[in-house]
Amino acid sequence: MNNGETWQPIGLSTLHIEARKQVADYVILLGEHRGEGLGTEATKLTLDWAFHVAGLRNVKLEVWEPNKAAIRAYQKASFTIVGVRRNGARWLGQQCDEIIMDAVPEDFTDSVVEHQLQA
Ligand SMILES: CC(C)(COP(=O)(O)OP(=O)(O)OC[C@H]1O[C@@H](n2cnc3c(N)ncnc32)[C@H](O)[C@@H]1OP(=O)(O)O)[C@@H](O)C(=O)NCCC(=O)NCCS
Repeated sequence: MNNGETWQPIGLSTLHIEARKQVADYVILLGEHRGEGLGTEATKLTLDWAFHVAGLRNVKLEVWEPNKAAIRAYQKASFTIVGVRRNGARWLGQQCDEIIMDAVPEDFTDSVVEHQLQA
């Protein structure tokens, strides 16, 4: 991922793909420029590639419940909460829940790739 103005790297988004099952696990980390919409945009672009180039059927992630910015960004990119592992993580020295979210192609409506393939 890079900052569109300076083209400097600002973080990474990764998919750990299980090709046989056509599924993947998602992780994203921005070093700087947080809170500017870039996490949402990068998550959408990653899902677009996952669903419309790699042909995956499900992308899953785990996020700690106090990480509200991450949960909000994931929801805006079409992830849905599908489960909670109670007391499944630690945040700033405190036990907290781990939220499980997933995304499927049927819920993803912001495809850039699909439009380009149809053009
Ligand atoms: C999580 C992360 C990828 C999000 O990317 P980002 O660019 O900062 O997020 P965005 O700006 O796209 O969206 C954040 C949203 O959360 C909202 N938000 C921020 N703090 C919030 C809070 N305390 N409560 C509720 N919403 C909050 C923002 O207002 C924004 O929503 P909006 O656009 O509707 O206003 C990024 O912050 C990051 O890399 N953090 C550190 C690593 C990390 O936590 N990775 C995820 C591990 S699961």
